[in-house]
Parts: sequence; C-alpha cells; structure tokens
Amino acid sequence: MQVLKYAFQQHGDSRGQLVALEEFKDIPFEIKRVYYMYDTGENVHRGFHAHKSLEQILICIHGSCKVLLDNGTEKKIVSLEKPYEGLYISNDMWREMYDFSSDAVLLVLASDYYNEEDYIRNYDEFIKFITDKGEHKL
Ligand code: TYD
Repeated sequence: MQVLKYAFQQHGDSRGQLVALEEFKDIPFEIKRVYYMYDTGENVHRGFHAHKSLEQILICIHGSCKVLLDNGTEKKIVSLEKPYEGLYISNDMWREMYDFSSDAVLLVLASDYYNEEDYIRNYDEFIKFITDKGEHKL
C-alpha cells in the first residue's frame, strides 16, 4: 500500500513559519470542507470508518497523533507530528486515529461536504464494499 505524505512548503523567516495550501496546487482536490479535532481524550481512538468517495488530507497542525490506514488487504500506521506534513487518504480506505497528544489539533481538508451516506462505519461492510468493486485482493 502506497502512503502519500506531503511535506508542504514552509515559508519560514526570522518571524517564524507559515504554510499556505491551495486547492489543485498543494492539495489534489477541491477543498469543500475543513474541520478539526482537539481536546481529544487520552487513549481515545476515533475514525473507524471509510468513505465511498470522499478524499481527505489530515494535518496535525499542533501536537501529534497516529493514523492507521487499512485498504482491506494491508494496514499501515502513519505518525503525524509536524505542522507541515499532510497525509492523503483516498476513498475506500478504513482509518483510525489514536495516540493524540493532549495538545493535538488535527485539521482535515475534505473534498466534499459532510454526507453521512458517504460513510461506511462497519468494517465487514467496508470489506464487502471493496470486494464488490474488485478492490479487495487476498
Ligand atoms: P464522527 O464522524 O463521529 O467523527 P470521527 O468518526 O471522525 O471520529 O463525527 C463526530 C460528530 O461530528 C458527529 O455527530 C458528526 C459531526 N460532524 C459534522 O457535523 N460535520 C463534519 O464534517 C464531521 C466530520 C462530523
């Protein structure tokens, strides 16, 4: 499984750092929604879903967290600990986020508006969904 982690350009000078993200330039999709998670409790695991068509980029803009990616065949764990790193998550990818530092702020850029119909929140349904599409290789 290919993990796509971006290192965004940092515009640093004596005053500090700045990262600018533009759709179709730094981000490979139209950004229709931005949301963020913070004050995540210790030992909390969240996510536990895949999306039928949504694409996302996760940026831990403060603190750190881990993301488990699972395409139904392979799993990868990715650490996000720099504010200039972005993890691309395609559709048809199960994800879990955990190990949030107490100061973690996890920013998500999403290719579409919130739509509960696009979620697959049951792991067995996820496997069935990708198997039916022919994406599940064993
Ligand atoms: P939830 O999907 O449980 O978060 P995750 O699975 O990523 O841990 O979302 C928590 C709540 O926030 C839930 O009531 C739905 C709501 N929500 C929105 O209203 N808009 C959004 O864009 C997102 C991501 C969640």
